[in-house]
Amino acid sequence: MAPVQRYNSHMDRRHFIGISSWAATAGILRAEPSAGDATNEAYWSLVKRQFPLEDGLLYFNAANVCPASRAVLDKLAMFERDFQADPAFQNREKYGPIRTSARAKTAKLLNVKPEEIAFTRNTSESNCTLVNGLDFKPGDEILLADHNHPSNLTAWQIRAKREGFIVKALPTASPAPNRDALIGMFEKGITPKTRFIGVTHVTNVHGLRFPVKEICELGRRRNIWTHVDGAQSFASMNVDLQDIGCDSYSASTHKWLMGPLEAGILYVRPERIEQVWPGIVTAGWSDNVKDARKLEVYGQQDDPRFAGLDAALDFTNLIGIQNIETRVRYLATYMKEQMKQLPVEMRTNMEPELSHGIVKITTGEANIKKQYDALWSRNRVAIASTAHGEQHGLRFSAHIYNTKDDVDAAVRALKAVVA
Ligand SMILES: Cc1ncc(COP(=O)(O)O)c(C=O)c1O
Repeated sequence: MAPVQRYNSHMDRRHFIGISSWAATAGILRAEPSAGDATNEAYWSLVKRQFPLEDGLLYFNAANVCPASRAVLDKLAMFERDFQADPAFQNREKYGPIRTSARAKTAKLLNVKPEEIAFTRNTSESNCTLVNGLDFKPGDEILLADHNHPSNLTAWQIRAKREGFIVKALPTASPAPNRDALIGMFEKGITPKTRFIGVTHVTNVHGLRFPVKEICELGRRRNIWTHVDGAQSFASMNVDLQDIGCDSYSASTHKWLMGPLEAGILYVRPERIEQVWPGIVTAGWSDNVKDARKLEVYGQQDDPRFAGLDAALDFTNLIGIQNIETRVRYLATYMKEQMKQLPVEMRTNMEPELSHGIVKITTGEANIKKQYDALWSRNRVAIASTAHGEQHGLRFSAHIYNTKDDVDAAVRALKAVVA
């Protein structure tokens, strides 16, 4: 049997990183001239090769789950083996510093302080921590958009049903006419009874990007809690929470961060943290913890996941968040331009200030599942689809492991399906 590759605290960081493919990854990517340039296909092909994606797979579902790079997977596997080889408390002490490191890197990426970040299991849990952790009374109003994810929409409606407060879900026109229309939609929805505004940074529905800074400003002036669901913005663009000025922000690490499955982030502004009741209180919880970490105690956890998270943050920093943002926008814009030449209707705005990494189309075919299935079975194009109602259509989301050739192949496949 192969020996278990063990980590111990005497190994220095460089040595440990050297065991994984991290050093190789970093070396390869840094060596490419004009690394990071959004139009440098040679560089992005190298980036793609850092992911163990199957040959021929055209993966365009970043908005749902992203693959992790080899460097991240190696780290995860190594720590998992190490944990299982010796689950003693003594061998698990290492996870304190690893968690601290991941928290510091997450905070830096979002331009906030580490103690303002709680690690949850996903965006749904982060959103529902607020839905169920804040006090409201009958008559209070929660202001949302109808394109919010269920964890920031249906979850509110369920709690309101129990407690008699009011949830207003504003109808979202998408494509949106302009930023002012989106700001105005929230401004008009506010009443003296509004206590919470929940907005999605980039919607998973049509990929609409909301002007969150201006919407949060509307709330802050009136002392209304403002929450930004960042599932589709975290690690796909440069997000500065101090600049946005929201009271809370949620995200998952298995989406654009290309990190471990079932890990999430909840930022809460320090002045607001006192207002949030923890949803789970169990061993390890203490009333003496007054910062966001009081929201991340939920029983025995998957510790090795934090090593994967730390590595995923390193990977994002290696490529550079600004380079990622520019490349994601470049691919989405290119895809939209190509698709506009097909007999489809674009549901996503073309303007970068109103869109980002998600492209949603309708095709005129009522049975959208037929086209979704055909793309997969004929060309292995992996996307998402919505079969019903106003959100009906096909959704494509490209990330840095996609090349321009991948986009061309997906558009060719789509052309054959919609022709
Ligand atoms: C905007 C938005 N919020 C929340 C979620 C839920 O994320 P998760 O399933 O990781 O909890 C998603 C998932 O796609 C999303 O797009």
